[in-house]
Amino acid sequence: MSRGEGPVVSAGALVRLFHVSKSYLAGSWALRDVSLELEKGEFVFLTGPSGAGKSTLMRLIFAGEQPSEGQILVLGRNVGRVGPAGIAPLRRRIGVVFQDFKLLPRRTVEENVGIALDVVGVAEREKRARVFAMLKRVGLHHRRHHHPLSLSGGEQQRLAIARALINDPEILLADEPTGNLDPDLTLEIMDLIADAAARGTAVFVATHDHALIERYGRRVVRLEAGEVVHDAPVRGPLS
Ligand SMILES: Nc1ncnc2c1ncn2[C@@H]1O[C@H](COP(=O)(O)OP(=O)(O)OP(=O)(O)O)[C@@H](O)[C@H]1O
Ligand SMILES: [Mg+2]
Repeated sequence: MSRGEGPVVSAGALVRLFHVSKSYLAGSWALRDVSLELEKGEFVFLTGPSGAGKSTLMRLIFAGEQPSEGQILVLGRNVGRVGPAGIAPLRRRIGVVFQDFKLLPRRTVEENVGIALDVVGVAEREKRARVFAMLKRVGLHHRRHHHPLSLSGGEQQRLAIARALINDPEILLADEPTGNLDPDLTLEIMDLIADAAARGTAVFVATHDHALIERYGRRVVRLEAGEVVHDAPVRGPLS
């Protein structure tokens, strides 16, 4: 549709949670009655104290776990109903930075990033070029033949981010993606993530870092004891 042809119909939310609860132990709730939506290109911070349920929420969206109650739609699919065969194609469209990185220790830096492109059948030559460009963006190209365990915490974090972004995911889930980085690197990585959002990726960033939230001035969802206690844009100086 060209401009001026009337209202643009929203493509709809890429992530939808309907009254989602998660209990690991009878009588205690890691998440309780959470409903929220994430639109294409939206950049949302997820915050709240340790144990509030941030990582749990991200694992549920990635279908790493099933909710105890409620429903989750990701890219239009009900993750509770897609079954094991449906999960893999869905996950290929989601980039994830886990809180503990989950890097492959026996693979090199470039293999850790390239693996996402192998899965979708990108030719070797193109893969090498794309991986190198992405490693350059996160400042790790000189480390491409190293193994993850020989990297510093901040380098491992940047590797996890490179891996999550290499495939231009429709959704990015980043759990404390700058927790091990110094302030300069934090801003570089956040700019990379903001770039992805500007190109249409729906981005969910879990963080304790209030300075970061204020700096980027985006929507903030705050969890406390598994419940959403706040969901609103925060205005702050945009960089
Ligand atoms: N696999 C699990 N088994 C049992 N309880 C769990 C499990 N994972 C998380 N929990 C519990 O669920 C609650 C939410 O945990 P979660 O890891 O989601 O919090 P968080 O907000 O990510 O915390 P942090 O800021 O420390 O990363 C906590 O009470 C935690 O102990
Ligand atoms: Mg966590």
